[in-house]
Amino acid sequence: MKSRCLKWQVQMCIVFCIISTGLAQIRYSIPEEMKRGLFIGDIGKDLGIDLKRLITGKARLVIDGSQQYVQLDRDKGHLVVKERIDREQLCAQKSPCSFSLEVVLENPLELYAVTVEVHDINDNAPVFSEKEIRLEISESVPIGTHFLLDSAMDLDVGINSLQSYTLKPAHNFVLKQHNRPDGSKCAEMVLQTPLDREKQGEHALTLIAVDGGNPQRSGTIQVHIIVLDANDNAPVFSQPVYKASVVENSLKGTLVTTVNAVDADEGFNGNVTYAFTHVEESIRQTFQLDSKTGDIRVSSNIDYEKVQQYEINLQAKDPWGLTGSSKLIIEITDVNDNGPVITLTSFSSPISEDSTPGTVIALISVQDLDSGRNGQVSLFVDQNLPFKIKSSLRNYYTLVTHTVLDREQISKYNITITATDEGLPSLTSEKTVLLEISDVNDNAPRFDQNEYRTHVVENNSPGISILTLRATDADWGPNARISYRLLNDEITGISISSYISVNSDNGVVYAVRSFDYEHTKEFNIKVSAQDGGSPPLSTNVTVIICIQDQNDNSPQILYPVQSGVSLVAEMVARSADVGYLVTKVVAVDADSGQNAWLSYKLLKATDRALFEVGSQNGEIRTSRQVSDKDAVKQRLVVVVEDNGQPSRSATVNVNVAVADSFPEVLSEFSDFTHDKDYNDSLTFYLVLSLAVVSFLFIVSVIVLVSVKVYRWRQSRLFYKSNGNLPVIPSAYYPPRYADVGATGTLQHVYNYEVCMTTDSRKSDVRYVRPSSQNILITDPSSTETMQHTQKANNILEDADPDIEVSLCFNYLVFIFP
Ligand SMILES: *[C@@H]1O[C@H](CO)[C@@H](O)[C@H](O)[C@H]1NC(C)=O
Ligand SMILES: *[C@@H]1O[C@H](CO)[C@@H](O)[C@H](O)[C@H]1NC(C)=O
Repeated sequence: MKSRCLKWQVQMCIVFCIISTGLAQIRYSIPEEMKRGLFIGDIGKDLGIDLKRLITGKARLVIDGSQQYVQLDRDKGHLVVKERIDREQLCAQKSPCSFSLEVVLENPLELYAVTVEVHDINDNAPVFSEKEIRLEISESVPIGTHFLLDSAMDLDVGINSLQSYTLKPAHNFVLKQHNRPDGSKCAEMVLQTPLDREKQGEHALTLIAVDGGNPQRSGTIQVHIIVLDANDNAPVFSQPVYKASVVENSLKGTLVTTVNAVDADEGFNGNVTYAFTHVEESIRQTFQLDSKTGDIRVSSNIDYEKVQQYEINLQAKDPWGLTGSSKLIIEITDVNDNGPVITLTSFSSPISEDSTPGTVIALISVQDLDSGRNGQVSLFVDQNLPFKIKSSLRNYYTLVTHTVLDREQISKYNITITATDEGLPSLTSEKTVLLEISDVNDNAPRFDQNEYRTHVVENNSPGISILTLRATDADWGPNARISYRLLNDEITGISISSYISVNSDNGVVYAVRSFDYEHTKEFNIKVSAQDGGSPPLSTNVTVIICIQDQNDNSPQILYPVQSGVSLVAEMVARSADVGYLVTKVVAVDADSGQNAWLSYKLLKATDRALFEVGSQNGEIRTSRQVSDKDAVKQRLVVVVEDNGQPSRSATVNVNVAVADSFPEVLSEFSDFTHDKDYNDSLTFYLVLSLAVVSFLFIVSVIVLVSVKVYRWRQSRLFYKSNGNLPVIPSAYYPPRYADVGATGTLQHVYNYEVCMTTDSRKSDVRYVRPSSQNILITDPSSTETMQHTQKANNILEDADPDIEVSLCFNYLVFIFP
């Protein structure tokens, strides 16, 4: 390269020489920076000076300035480089650059001018004064803004000087180059695409300045661009829609969620504040938004049952008012905070105890404000109760009977209806209703006993209460109101009303008449207890009334027959042994038991030692050997006593004839007899008496029948006109009885009359006494009654002889068989 260059230089020199010969001035052109000693030009030749002359002439160079760039080789006549020639130093930016020198010859002094032109070579690169350009550019600068850049310096000139700039990379900026008036070049960046700090906060570019030399040289400078923020970004929420859920009844201050908006700007520009926008006051009160942190907290009570979801508009704002928005949806989660509410839509109480199972008692509706499982309610009642819940519609239930009810067992039910929801924990509510069961007449009255048995001592005072029947009825009210009623119409043909009456209200059984054991020992009545239901129910019970004996009958001597007219005597032979059965006293007692248990005693005797009476059997036996000295006529008085308390007795006279022959007896007994025929035929009298008795029997039967018929008619009339209690109107009785008055009393008197006439009118008055006493006790109007008693006695005197006869006859009939 160098050599080529040298050749070129030499050629150049030759040209110049030819030109300069005529002018006696030589011009050489050399590149700068030639090495020392390098040939520049052949002066001798070019100037036409002989080498000898050069030597002799002491040729020398005179150079302007201080620098001796070149020197003369006198021997060769060559001009060579003496020291480094730096064009930039020599001429700076002057071009062309040359320096002049003179070749001076002495002897004769000759002067030749030589000009050496120094060509520039590209030995300098463009240089920037700084290493780096720092630029701070706001991101908001508009497109097309120019930024002047530092210029680079290139000491070279011409083509070797700075030719152009390039900028790399060229994303945002393009480079524009300008030529200054002085010819220097300057560069500026023009913003081509907007800067975005948020994308790229810094840009590093390289500005390259290149010259036109060969080889080309370049210089670079770093352009460091810092993009300054401008508030060009609105805050942006991290989500377009936020979703959060919060449990209802959350405490105040519970964090619901945190929203976050980012402002791409930095620093103050990036400060974001949050707010609710376009929200109702109620939401503002329910939730609180921390404007700095974006925390959303509960600030008042949340009730799922009122609002299930909140939709809130959010806004984020930077200090310059740029806003971003989002939406927050808060779902409220249900909590089981509402118990079921039981409402009794309808309720029927009381219900009848005969209601069939399945009868609807109540219609119940249940509400639970909660939702889902929390609001799912099940309803039930105590399983032990005869009720159950049936579900008809959703949330509607019916309470129905499950089994048959019985008011008599349980008359009221406290039914507790329990509703439970399925929340966790579940809530329960209860409602208690009082159901009353109304009565149905389903229970018949019940007597205390299956059968009643009572004992009444005969000769009781009429009107006494003999027994109280008690029936109970499990039903209630009128269904349990019991009335008692006699069912029998009659007893042994006699109207029941003359025997017994029953108080229909309290069941007390009264004896209407005085009972006679000897007449009736026992009788049954049937009593019905009937309740007041509709239809009524009744129960029958049998009452057995046993009449107890009283010692009201004296023993009756049947044998020996006592007669005023006839004389009966037993014969005892004188030869009779000890223990000979003389006769037997036969007696009966109409009473029974102890009262009829007879004992016999010898009361009086002509000779007490001769006879004895068997106390049990009434047998009269000899107690010793009969002797001849014993009187023919023996008279014994035997007393017959019953065992009653007090005891009653009867005496009998027994005539005994102690004789061997009948005439003996007759002579002895002659004072006894009133009728001579008697002795002849005792049997005749017996036969006669039998005939009389038979006659009387027939008569008495007729009388008895007629009396019965009469009474029956009377009682029929009586029965018609009276209720249970025999109130006997006086009109049915003879006037003498009429003023006896009081209920039933007449009848009793009449009864007594009958009783009294059982014995002969001449005999005991004993029946009269108890009768009058009884009347005195029972009748409240006592003074009057006394008189009545007297009258009654009179009546007895005049009593119907027929009845007397008939009853006497009864005894006789009893005797003979
Ligand atoms: C029903 O409940 C009420 C209140 O608890 C109580 O006073 C009443 O005695 C109860 N009745 C019955 C029949 O259990
Ligand atoms: C009670 O007796 C009456 C009359 O004999 C009869 O009609 C009725 O059926 C009886 N009642 C009962 C419950 O036995």
